[in-house]
Amino acid sequence: MTEWQKSGWRAKPRVQMPDYTDQAKLEAVEAQLSKYPPLVFAGEARKLKKELGAASRGEAFLLQGGDCAEAFDQFSANAIRDTFKVMLQMAMVLTFGAKVPVVKVGRMAGQFAKPRSAPTEVVDGVELPSYRGDIINELAFTPEARIPDPAKMLQAYTQAAATLNLLRAFSTGGYADVHQVHQWTLGFTDREESEKYRDMANRISDTLDFMKAAGVDSDRAHTLQTVDFYTSHESLLLEYEEALTRQDSTSGKWLAGSGHMIWIGDRTRQPDGAHVEFARGVLNPVGLKCGPTTTAEDLKILMSKLNPDNEAGKLTLIARFGAGKVGEHLPRLIKAVAEEGANVTWVCDPMHGNTIKSSTGYKTRPFDSVLREVRDFFAVHNAEGTVPGGVHFEMTGQDVTECTGGVRAVSEENLSDRYHTACDPRLNASQSLELAFLVAEELTARREAQLAAKAG
Ligand code: PEP
Ligand code: CO
Repeated sequence: MTEWQKSGWRAKPRVQMPDYTDQAKLEAVEAQLSKYPPLVFAGEARKLKKELGAASRGEAFLLQGGDCAEAFDQFSANAIRDTFKVMLQMAMVLTFGAKVPVVKVGRMAGQFAKPRSAPTEVVDGVELPSYRGDIINELAFTPEARIPDPAKMLQAYTQAAATLNLLRAFSTGGYADVHQVHQWTLGFTDREESEKYRDMANRISDTLDFMKAAGVDSDRAHTLQTVDFYTSHESLLLEYEEALTRQDSTSGKWLAGSGHMIWIGDRTRQPDGAHVEFARGVLNPVGLKCGPTTTAEDLKILMSKLNPDNEAGKLTLIARFGAGKVGEHLPRLIKAVAEEGANVTWVCDPMHGNTIKSSTGYKTRPFDSVLREVRDFFAVHNAEGTVPGGVHFEMTGQDVTECTGGVRAVSEENLSDRYHTACDPRLNASQSLELAFLVAEELTARREAQLAAKAG
């Protein structure tokens, strides 16, 4: 493999990136960002890689979730807190189902740039460049708003730094105490409509009571009060990524300092393209979205480029095929992985293959399709003897109405009530927690089947 440089992507074909008109301004912003501190440190990225390695073997389970796109005007402590809170609740329910540690990774503190299906958007006969995320241009439908502005990278950096600061405080400052988290979950299962999840919630209560009686309590056990919480985003705007890339002084390797984990999207995974070129050289764990158009041949090339040393935890394959399509695509890619003897962590993103337009004109995702894709994902891994290593959701702790369904049913008519996403529809707090209970059931069933097979 050729020598890697953090600017090497510039010589490769790029897609989904803006053409900045003001080069001098762009260079000034890049120069400024390169002097700013990185947001994360190499030791943290290595620790996450190790934990993802455990997930690849079924010794841990990844929960990755957050906004489709973080937005400047929705930035608030409450929004960060609420998403963090529901992720902790989900993680606890999943831990109970999986009986292994849950690795928590937010789509947060850097998830600002969006790939788009079309370069322009037409409204009432007027055609303008597409909105590409707050780090690039603005959502408002005016020619000025859609001009890419490099200075937005500085605002994104500031918001990411402040978000990460708050997440670090919540993770260690007492907010993440298991008893507290479980109390919130009981608030959900106490409600009439979520009765079917009460049994599992009660079993978690019993476990906590037992631990307390046995002397394992938050006052004494530090691990019950604190969590490791990591950040991730799609590595799309490579000028921003390059400017935050730093050499790790202990290993001499390069760290993408913009977040703990980065991923390559379904539209930017060309084996010879700029995005793969950038990602192949950083020490961080890297995710790769795999969709219906991912060929076995490309996947093999990508695995060798993105994980040349075949390290466990280095490469996470994020499957996003769509409900009803997993059976057609996942087995052929699992076969490609086996043929290469590659180490990968398989994760299910049941969001991006299940986006539809509602009869009321909103982009939405039916809860049942999301659930069905997760179940298909587990079924294929159970049949193939491979490991379902985690889930990846677009979700928020806020009470939005963007995806339909769930026990506190959101209908197509409700979608207009609180539809706030800057991009794709997210699961709300109740739908997210409900999904965690349902994934926990899958994990429990899988574990019981494995135990039965061992005993028999
Ligand atoms: C996303 O994760 O927001 C996204 C755009 O996904 P994909 O690249 O899989 O379409
Ligand atoms: Co999305």
